[in-house]
Formats: sequence, structure tokens, C-alpha cells
Amino acid sequence: MLFNSRSVAFIISLVVSGLTVFVLSFLPNITNAVLALAFIACFTFCAVLVYLMFEVLVFNEIKSIYADLEKIKKKEYKISKSKTWLRSMPLKKIKDELYLLEFKKQQEIDELKRLDSFRREFLADVSHELKTPVFAAQGFVHTLIDGAIDDPEVRDKFLEKAARSLDRLDIMVQDLIGISQLEKGIIKMHRIEFNIMRMVQEVFEQLEIKAASRNIKLHLQDTGYSKIDVLADPARIRQVITNLVDNAIKYGNEGGNIWVSFLTGKKKVQISVRDDGEGIPKEHQSRIFERFYRIDKSRSRENGGSGLGLAISKHITEAHNSKLIVNSTPGKGTTMKFKLPRAKGALPEPKKEDLTDTLRSLRDKKPKQEKQ
Ligand SMILES: Nc1ncnc2c1ncn2[C@@H]1O[C@H](COP(=O)(O)OP(=O)(O)OP(=O)(O)O)[C@@H](O)[C@H]1O
Ligand SMILES: [Mg+2]
Repeated sequence: MLFNSRSVAFIISLVVSGLTVFVLSFLPNITNAVLALAFIACFTFCAVLVYLMFEVLVFNEIKSIYADLEKIKKKEYKISKSKTWLRSMPLKKIKDELYLLEFKKQQEIDELKRLDSFRREFLADVSHELKTPVFAAQGFVHTLIDGAIDDPEVRDKFLEKAARSLDRLDIMVQDLIGISQLEKGIIKMHRIEFNIMRMVQEVFEQLEIKAASRNIKLHLQDTGYSKIDVLADPARIRQVITNLVDNAIKYGNEGGNIWVSFLTGKKKVQISVRDDGEGIPKEHQSRIFERFYRIDKSRSRENGGSGLGLAISKHITEAHNSKLIVNSTPGKGTTMKFKLPRAKGALPEPKKEDLTDTLRSLRDKKPKQEKQ
């Protein structure tokens, strides 16, 4: 290379010593021998000094570039704010740019890795969950074909079981389609005004038998109002409340209690579903909203759950600009809550008479009024 540290040192030394000799030549009584000596001395001194200076500087820069590369390898992306005049600015800028670029790329890689593992897990879960009812129905149908069809009692029983497995498959596929449509924003919320207290009461009526089978009592908070109107999509909100109460029944303790309470603010109403069951350990609390995530898979399957209920509920509450929040203490119980906008201008109506007989029977125990 033409311009390396040696050639630069040679040129600079040549210029400096030439200038020195030129200046010295003006001195009186100076001999040629002294001038030649001065030239050699000056040239040597300059050449060594400039060469060493270049080597040290370049070496230092290379060393610091290596150190920076090491930091990038270790994913230590720290952009220094201090301005140092010793370190050449262009190199510092290049380093900072490199850090930034590498940091962004690393973030993208991490996110892609996370999504990829999520996709793999999801595919494995979907195929596993779909396989279970398909295999069950297949087994019953083949047993019937192999001769069991001749026994009317066995035939009816097996057909019923096969139909139940296929119904489960249908629910699961519908749920999956529902989630993906909610994620894509295809499903629009049809917001109308309705009485949320009445809706909870209907969900209780629907799940009464299931709760009774586990000896669980359902309690609806006595709010002192005959109705609380909200502005939301009633079909979707019913789905959320049904899933929350259903979960509280399935995963609550036998002989336990479930309370549904309301907290009315100026613009919003908070709906809480609380149980006194086993609770959800901290490490699972953020994951239960993922598709197919179940804490105890075998127990959930016994209960017929596929782990899609909370994923759907989360999407529905988010589509209502709200968040489904879980508060749970293992051994004490779980509270799931979300907010809905109050119907415009509608104040909760003070109760004139008791709602219905069902509500009265449900109001065995009065929950504590929560603070807002
Ligand atoms: N109140 C609760 N107490 C304890 N665990 C709960 C409670 N609610 C949910 N879970 C845990 O969270 C998991 C996910 O709940 P989710 O409603 O999504 O699924 P699922 O009820 O099992 O099935 P699906 O709702 O699809 O029928 C459950 O399997 C259960 O392990
Ligand atoms: Mg559920």
C-alpha cells in the first residue's frame, strides 16, 4: 500500500528535515558536513517518532474495535455519551451506529425466535387437541362397524359418545376460528345497552346444575340497584362471563363459593368473578391467556377444557378497550376482573323490588364491597 505508516513517516520526515536544513543553511559559518549530519539526525528522529506514533494510534484503534466487537458478541450494547477527544469521532460514530444496528437486529431475532417457538408449540397443541376427539370418535365408529352395531344398547351408547367427541371437535374448531377472527379484527363488536346484572343472573341459571354437581354456591352481589346498564356486545360479554364462571366452577374447590360483584364508577363498571379455589401460581398467571395453555393438563381435560376460553375472553375484553386482569393467591382463590363502559347517561337504578326469585336464592352470602 502506498500510504502506510512507514511511507507517511518517510514523507513527513523528509519534509521536516529538508525544512530544518533549509533554515540551518542561513546560519553563518555552517559547514556542509554539519548540515548533512543535521539532516540525518532530524530525518531519523522524525521517522521513528512519526512511525511509532502512527503504530500506537492505529494499534489502539484496532484494539478498541476488537473490544467493541467482543461487546457486540456478548450483547452489551452500551452507547457511550462521553465525548473523548482522544478517540477519533468518526470511529466512535461508526461504533455507536454498529451497536444500534446490532441491538435492533438482535431484538428482531429474539422476537422471531419467540414467535417461532410459539408457532411450533401452537401447531403441536392444535394437532394434539384435534387428534383426541377425532381418535375417540373414530374408535367408536370402527367398533360399531366391527359388529357392535348389532347390540342396540351398545350402538346407542357408542353413537352418543362419538357424537359428543365430534361436538367437542366442533366447539374447538369454532373457538379457533373465533380467536383468529378476533385477532384479525374481522369480528366487530355490536355494542348495545344492556343490563349486566341480568346477564350474570342468566349465566348463573345456565351453570346452576354444573355448580350444584360440585356443591359450589353462586353468589351475586347485592348492589342495591335493580339494574346496571353497560354499552357492549352482549353475546361476546356473555361468552366472557360464562367462561369465567365456568372456570371458577371447574377449577374451584368442591363445596366452595363463587362471587360475582360490580364496582360502578362514573364511566365504567368493573365486573369481578371471584372463587375460593386453589388459585393460580404466579408463574402461570400471565400464561393462562395463551391458546391451549392449561396449568394442569390432565385435570383440565377431565373437565373438558381445551384452554381456549381465556384466550377468547382476553380478545373480547380487549376489543372493548378493556383488560382481563387476574389476581390470584395460591391456596386462597382467584379473582378475574374487567371493565365495561357504562351506558351513556344511565345511572344505576335504585332497587324498587327484589330482582327475581333466582337472584334471591343466589344471594346466600353478601360479598365485601370493593373499593374503587
Ligand atoms: N378460576 C381459576 N382457578 C384456577 N385455575 C384457573 C382458573 N381459571 C383458569 N384457570 C387455569 O387457566 C387455564 C386456562 O383457562 P381457559 O378458560 O383458557 O381454559 P379451560 O377452561 O381449561 O378450557 P375452555 O375454557 O377452552 O373450555 C385452565 O386450564 C386452568 O388451569
Ligand atoms: Mg375455560
